[in-house]
Amino acid sequence: MCGIVGFAGKNDGVNFLLEGLCKLEYRGYDSSGIALYCNDEIKIIKTVGRIEKLAEKCKSDKVSGNAGIGHTRWATHGKPSEENSHPHLSNNLKFAVVHNGIIENYIELRQELEQEGFVFKSETDTEVIPNLLQKYYNGDLKNAVNKTISRIKGSYALGILCKDYPDMLVAVKQFSPIIIGIADDCNIIASDVTAIAPKTQKIIYIEDGDVAYITANSVEIYSDSLMVERRISIIDWDINTAEKGGYGHFMMKEIYEQPAVLRRILKEYLKDNEICFPNINIDKELIKEIDRIVIIACGSAYHAGVAAKYLFEEITGIPTEVDLASEFRYRNPIITEKTLTIAISQSGETADTIAALTEAKRRGSKTACVVNAVGSSIAKIADNVIYTLAGPEIAVATTKGYTSQLLCLYLLAIFMAEKISLDHKAELIKELNKLPSKTEEVLSVQEKIADVAKRFTKTKSIFFIGRNMDFAAALEASLKLKEISYIHSEAFAAGELKHGTISLIEEGTHVIALCGYERLNDKLLSNIREVIARGADVLCAANNRNMASSVGADLFSIPKTHPLFTALAEVVPFQIFAYYVALYKGCDIDKPRNLAKSVTV
Ligand code: AGP
Repeated sequence: MCGIVGFAGKNDGVNFLLEGLCKLEYRGYDSSGIALYCNDEIKIIKTVGRIEKLAEKCKSDKVSGNAGIGHTRWATHGKPSEENSHPHLSNNLKFAVVHNGIIENYIELRQELEQEGFVFKSETDTEVIPNLLQKYYNGDLKNAVNKTISRIKGSYALGILCKDYPDMLVAVKQFSPIIIGIADDCNIIASDVTAIAPKTQKIIYIEDGDVAYITANSVEIYSDSLMVERRISIIDWDINTAEKGGYGHFMMKEIYEQPAVLRRILKEYLKDNEICFPNINIDKELIKEIDRIVIIACGSAYHAGVAAKYLFEEITGIPTEVDLASEFRYRNPIITEKTLTIAISQSGETADTIAALTEAKRRGSKTACVVNAVGSSIAKIADNVIYTLAGPEIAVATTKGYTSQLLCLYLLAIFMAEKISLDHKAELIKELNKLPSKTEEVLSVQEKIADVAKRFTKTKSIFFIGRNMDFAAALEASLKLKEISYIHSEAFAAGELKHGTISLIEEGTHVIALCGYERLNDKLLSNIREVIARGADVLCAANNRNMASSVGADLFSIPKTHPLFTALAEVVPFQIFAYYVALYKGCDIDKPRNLAKSVTV
């Protein structure tokens, strides 16, 4: 996903732009660039590859300026190249633009502009924007900006420079993230808080449709051409929170943060063993009306949804389905005003999840979300918001993002479980309170897990199998491994293997059986025997030796938890397992190839 930074200050902004882009590297990119107002013109520097190259070019070209924009590009339209990287200039060199999102009608706009004599240098959708600004500019910047955004369709967060306004920066938001930072000697914009925290903790979350005109000491925000006030929030973490803190990678740091995050959630949402969510209006009356729950999400958030489905049905008695947001948005989901749609998202900016939630709302659904990013697009769309309080998650492969989602979903399910007794609720809450220490147990055996990981660095393929909550955990364990170690792996509902895929099992095939959900282990045992009979090399992820020794398999220890909460603690050993397999393979753990932290397109 692309990253945007911008600066309007009293002093030179080059270092802020470069450092800000470095903070956004985790979002994934293939090229980068900056534009600065310098010596009465807009100077553009851009390179393919890492930001270090960009910094070297800035140094050699001796660029400086007190207003500028920067961009990391994750290619969507056109290959990674200097021509396609941002910022893009208008033909008359008066406007420079950086963009995150997709302009859906760029082809017709480009044809229109080419017929008027404009010449395009890139393959991108973005390049229509600076040229539309040129087309509509007659000296009135606001008028040119308003006319331009009235012509473009799609999702866009923009940073704009205009040569005639040398100390001003313009920011525009429509469905893609961009926020404003208010500092003492400058005002800044960025795609997310990690690029702003080093400079200030005063943030303005502008809304879709907002246009902000920013100088070193002023921020004017307009919506539909009318000036509006937007609240200044204070973010409750500093840059040290977002730094590696002595760990080799953000991923390991965030794995280790999990016990503290889980404790923070329980402290925030459990008051004297009563569950209370500050930002929701789901009450007993509303719960009685709900006849179906639909969970929508992508990737790991979807895996949390699979576990939540089993739990919601088990303790609330409300029919619950979980769907991939990218599938939900293009099918004909049967949604009524008695449906509660729950969107799960760490970033709160995943395009498919935003679209699916918007569609569910359009069809009359009641909506809720479980998100980490405060003020994110999904948090603004949903009627009810539960924040996961995980703090910034920098590593592309989510860890604390996933476990914090699960704990919040567990709390929500118990909160909505009108049909179970108070004693049963109290017993479940007591079990939830054990999860932080269960997670800590795993961290204390990191070396053992690293030893097991060593055996898999040459493996070509691994099958993860499990039933019920173990299947949900298997999905997440498998994704963790493949997304950072690039080893092919698949998760299977253990009962499903014999319906075709078992044909792939041969001598030496690696199978990891997740056995934490002990209620179905006798069934799982027969599945393990089926694959062993065909030559599989099985590892049993269990909280005791019985399963492993009964089939002569090796044991991979996982913490013992209440069966309904298996999918949380059971995944943590596999986060560490994936980390070490990737480390031994020399993979880029925090920024795996082809991936972005949040898929906003
Ligand atoms: C998981 O490690 C990945 N980072 C990815 O699957 C992620 O969970 C998915 O893209 C959803 O992101 P979100 O939670 O920010 O919506």
